[in-house]
Amino acid sequence: MTEVETLDAPQAAPELDEYPIVVEGLRNAFGDHVIHDNLSLKVRKGEILGVVGGSGTGKSVLMRSIIGLQQPDAGEITVLGHHIGASTDDEGRDMRSRWGVLFQGGALFSTLTVGENVEVPLKQFYPEIEDTLREEIARFKVRLAGLAEEAAYKYPSELSGGMKKRAGLARALALDPELLFLDEPTAGLDPIGAAAFDRLTRSLADNLGLTVFLITHDLDTLHAICDRVAVLADKQVIAVGTIPELLALDHPWIQEYFNGPRGRAALCAKDEFSMKNDAPVAQDGSAPREPFTNTQESGA
Ligand SMILES: Nc1ncnc2c1ncn2[C@@H]1O[C@H](COP(=O)(O)OP(=O)(O)O)[C@@H](O)[C@H]1O
Ligand SMILES: [Mg+2]
Repeated sequence: MTEVETLDAPQAAPELDEYPIVVEGLRNAFGDHVIHDNLSLKVRKGEILGVVGGSGTGKSVLMRSIIGLQQPDAGEITVLGHHIGASTDDEGRDMRSRWGVLFQGGALFSTLTVGENVEVPLKQFYPEIEDTLREEIARFKVRLAGLAEEAAYKYPSELSGGMKKRAGLARALALDPELLFLDEPTAGLDPIGAAAFDRLTRSLADNLGLTVFLITHDLDTLHAICDRVAVLADKQVIAVGTIPELLALDHPWIQEYFNGPRGRAALCAKDEFSMKNDAPVAQDGSAPREPFTNTQESGA
């Protein structure tokens, strides 16, 4: 029931349950450099929304605006029913515990082990949890992110690129978030590692009921796991829809991106992905995946 939405289309009144993220009329500028101008976007509950656009079009700035790290010049952002920026300190704190973020560079603390990295948000939001329980929760999140438990005791410098991403994901999952923000999670991974990460993302979204805001350049990722794709161009989200819906639009960037040689190759690869999707996640030095049934009982 997806429909391609353009900014010209009338916007329905936001149903907060249906749309955990609503951005309306967003404007961001750095000096004279206008990044977003009257940008609007609604993310549906439970979907993996891919966010694409040329380099420097403002994908990361959009994500930072949604999570309150970038104060917009204009516009309204509502996340899980709360206005971002207008919240009291307590509300803002509560909101930050309801989403997890994997930043573009991973942003792990290099002097902390993976487990200690995962413990950082737990300590911050639930200081009353005992050390042993907090360590156990951290190890659980490490396994949930598809790493062997031993990885909890390693430092980021001891990990491969794919394992670092998973460690960052474990930290993003620390507080059992409802929303997951991933900024270019497969950038820099080899194709096998990237496909494994994609399967992990899809599996987590399905099993934990997450809504995922996924910035990516990776056409394979878009085809394989995204329910819809939002296209950033000309300072706005020019369209949101499934890839076939976007392909029906006569926009040069969209056509070039999805219908160019790389886009068509990714489409072919999609069938292969679907066939492999039932198999366990391929691991880079990681353990077989746990069933997800106990996830919501992990505390925090
Ligand atoms: N803190 C900042 N100060 C000045 N310019 C910035 C800042 N953050 C981002 N920009 C600029 O905003 C534009 C969009 O950045 P970004 O959102 O990181 O792009 P991308 O779509 O590649 O993620 C870029 O031109 C970038 O240089
Ligand atoms: Mg970016």
